[in-house]
Amino acid sequence: MLIRYKKNFEKIAMGLLSFMPEGKEVKKLQETIKKYEENSDWHLYLWKEDDILGAIGIKIEDNINAVIQHISVTPSHRNMGIGKKMVNEVKNMYKDKYAVCPDERTLAFYNKCDEE
Ligand SMILES: CC(C)(COP(=O)(O)OP(=O)(O)OC[C@H]1O[C@@H](n2cnc3c(N)ncnc32)[C@H](O)[C@@H]1OP(=O)(O)O)[C@@H](O)C(=O)NCCC(=O)NCCS
Repeated sequence: MLIRYKKNFEKIAMGLLSFMPEGKEVKKLQETIKKYEENSDWHLYLWKEDDILGAIGIKIEDNINAVIQHISVTPSHRNMGIGKKMVNEVKNMYKDKYAVCPDERTLAFYNKCDEE
């Protein structure tokens, strides 16, 4: 299930975000996490089963768009449908108030989720 990010998940969340293609530079990851902690328009969720297995991050833009800007699943649990479940849950959570869309970083997988 999706749970809202909290500060005590900082390390695991940074680890998950480091799988995004934009890189693993620690300083940049810390800045990203800080934005999710401090900016009320940035929302980070974690996929929790027994362990935390994935992360999905959204930015609310102009009170209109809910932009999926980060999505990542831990390598040992990929290709099991977790990424798709996270995208679908976020769509359901935001669709009544916002237009849910990907950005250039998440577009490829977002489109893949729409395929079937
Ligand atoms: C992208 C990611 C979150 C998918 O998570 P997942 O839980 O493995 O995804 P699912 O199991 O729901 O779906 C797997 C399908 O997505 C496809 N897929 C994986 N990464 C993809 C990508 N970047 N673009 C398009 N499709 C992708 C797989 O090939 C697989 O396709 P198939 O069902 O036809 O075999 C995961 O691979 C990941 O963490 N990648 C590193 C982070 C990243 O690159 N994020 C940005 C993605 S655009």
